[in-house]
Parts: sequence; structure tokens; C-alpha cells
Amino acid sequence: MTMFRCQPLLASVFVVSLIVGCAPQESAPPVAEPAAEATAAVATTEEDLLARGRYLVEGPMHCLACHSELDWSAPGFPPLPGRRGVGAVFPDVSVPGLVVASNITPDPETGIGEWTDEELGRAIREGVGRDGRRLFPAMPYMFFRALSDDDLAAVIAYIRTLDPVRNQPPTTEIPEPVMASLPPHQPITEPVPAPDRSDPIAYGAYLTQIGNCIECHTPMTPEGHPIMELMLAGGRIMEGPWGKVAAPNLTTDPSGIPYYTEELFFEVMRTGMVSARDLNDIMIWGYFKDMTDDDLGAIFAYLQTLEPISHRVSNTEPPTPCSICGTSHGLGESNQS
Ligand code: HEC
Ligand code: HEC
Repeated sequence: MTMFRCQPLLASVFVVSLIVGCAPQESAPPVAEPAAEATAAVATTEEDLLARGRYLVEGPMHCLACHSELDWSAPGFPPLPGRRGVGAVFPDVSVPGLVVASNITPDPETGIGEWTDEELGRAIREGVGRDGRRLFPAMPYMFFRALSDDDLAAVIAYIRTLDPVRNQPPTTEIPEPVMASLPPHQPITEPVPAPDRSDPIAYGAYLTQIGNCIECHTPMTPEGHPIMELMLAGGRIMEGPWGKVAAPNLTTDPSGIPYYTEELFFEVMRTGMVSARDLNDIMIWGYFKDMTDDDLGAIFAYLQTLEPISHRVSNTEPPTPCSICGTSHGLGESNQS
């Protein structure tokens, strides 16, 4: 959850791999599904649409983790009462200048009440502000780019139902050279199809992308570009009200999480505990915890397919320089590039 300047290639690489990995959705006869599953299903009625939007916004896409004032002392860092979606200064110390997640409640003056669906869609998937401004990629539009048209409609429908709160957070101010270094706006000109949910690996790849796992779990160059050869191999340092912590390696290499079972993965994603080890809550389990078994299972299935990358990262050992990712983290000096 820090600054993230992507190479222009990154987003397109992912979109391509997602599209290639996903057969077009086949139309099946409607089946009655249990209520919990309905939230994860493709919406056909207004009620389903809102349920799907709520699931994405409050769960995998964790909009409210960035766009709310949070209670940093409560487990899982929930929004403060009455401050859901009201906007907040981006808390990671590594962002240049002042980055502010805006008010996304439907308040007409300070929030998104007067925005059109098209304006919201452009902000969420393409990183264009209502005033045409290039958004700073702390708003993870590089990853949200993969969001299907159906899911985008659900997200927009749901944020329009948040309690409107009049609140004007400060304005984002980023040094001009940093803005100039951002990749140019890439418009979305083709329909974005829904992922194939019958293929857990393809759907897991989709959820890993819109769930922003890659942003936090991939190390960056000093210039702020993700090192894609080390995708999900950890080493990214995050510092803010939660302290200072490195994201771990999620590949199946011995230095990653080869010993994880699906059961342990569910426990981590829902409690922030790896058996007896209590994770820093900036691993935002407080937002992921209500994801369905199917969806968490799909993410786990996808992680199992990652190429193993040798990169030891620990938050229990003192930080030492790492020649693989270039940052300093626990067990850094035991890594040889
Ligand atoms: C990791 C943190 C993070 C997450 C997750 C996130 N946002 Fe943002 N968002 C930001 C930041 C920071 C900005 C401001 C960027 C700037 O000012 O350049 C922003 C900007 C926006 C804007 C544009 C506001 C404007 O002034 O033009 C909209 C709309 C928005 N986000 C909606 C959403 C929605 C909807 C979601 C969930 C689907 C979401 N965001 C998830 C951090 C986040
Ligand atoms: C906002 C940043 C952030 C996001 C988003 C994020 N993580 Fe994490 N994650 C972390 C950090 C930091 C840690 C390490 C915390 C610690 O060691 O105290 C972590 C730890 C973990 C662990 C525990 C690994 C171990 O040490 O046993 C797993 C598993 C994990 N994350 C999976 C995921 C998945 C899957 C996603 C996406 C659905 C995700 N994370 C999204 C920051 C993040």
C-alpha cells in the first residue's frame, strides 16, 4: 500500500495474460444458489449487483482501507465509525509529496454524488481524475484495469449506496518530476469480459490482481518500478502507522510458503495469524476475511502455480541488505543474487 509507479508494460502484460487465460463465459441456465455464494456470483438483478459490489468493495478490492479514516489500534484496521469512504491521507511514508485518497461517499459536494458512471469507471480502471488529472498509482488502477465491465458496474452501484458524508480531505500534491515519470494514460477501448470462474487458476489470477496482492508483495526499484521478475516474491518495505514491515515471498520456493495448505491460507487471510505468528495488520486480513472459500481457494490455487523464486524475507530477524531485491529486510544478507 505504497507508491507504485508501473512500467507502461505492466498493466497490459497482466490484462493480456488474464484474457489469454480466460475462455469467454459460457451462458448456463440459471441455478438457485445459496445466499453466501450469491455475493460472489455474476449479478443479474439490482439486488445481486449491489451484493456483488459490496463484496468486491469491502473485500478483495478493499476500497475502504484506503478511502476511510482508519482505527490503527483496532485489529484489522477497520474504518472509524462514521468515517467509511470519507477520504484519507495516504499513510505510507514512501509516497512523494502528499497523496490523498478522495471522499468516495455519495456526498454531492465533497464526494462522488455528481460523478457519472463513466467518470468513476475512468478513475477506477484508467487512473484519470474527474478533472482529467493523472492519478497517482497509489490508487491501484494499474491492477484494477483488469476489472471486468460487470464487476465495475457492481462496484460503482455499491459505492453510490455508502452513507453520504460531507468531508473535504486535503488535495493531492505530487512533485512535477514524479508525475512526469508516470506511464501515460492507457484508455480502455474494448469490453473487459468477466473471468472464467469455473477455472480456479484463471479466477485466482484475476482476484490476485484486483486484490492488489501483487502491489504489496513485489519489491520495487529505487525509482518505484515493480521488479516483475520478482513478482510476489516479497521484499517490499512498508512504513506507516503500522510500523515498518517487509512483505514476504508468496511463491512455493523453500524461502516462500511451500508448507502452506489451503486450510492454513484461509486462516491467515481471515485472522492475520500464521498459526501462532501474529502478522502486522497492514497485511489487511481485516478486509479479506469475509471472502468466500471458493475465492480464497482460487487465489491459493493460483499462488501454487507461481514459479518458485528463492528470496528469504523475515520480519522476525533484524533487517540486513539484500542483493536480490535491493532493500533491507530480515534474512536479506542470506540471499545471493
Ligand atoms: C491502496 C489504496 C487504494 C485502494 C485499494 C483504492 N483506492 Fe481509490 N484512490 C487512492 C488514492 C491514494 C487516490 C488519490 C490519487 C491521486 O490523488 O492522485 C484514489 C483516487 C480514487 C478516485 C479518484 C478521485 C479523484 O479525485 O479524481 C476514485 C473515484 C477512487 N479512488 C475510487 C476507488 C474505488 C471505488 C476503490 C475500490 C474499488 C478504490 N478507489 C480503491 C487509493 C486507493
Ligand atoms: C497493503 C499491503 C498488502 C496487501 C494488499 C496484501 N498483503 Fe499479504 N502481507 C503484507 C505484509 C506486509 C505481510 C507481512 C506481515 C508480517 O510479517 O507481519 C503480508 C503477509 C502475507 C502472508 C503471510 C505469509 C507468511 O509469512 O506466512 C500471506 C499468505 C499473504 N500476505 C497473502 C496475501 C494475498 C493472497 C494478498 C492478496 C489477496 C495479500 N497478501 C495482499 C502486505 C500486503
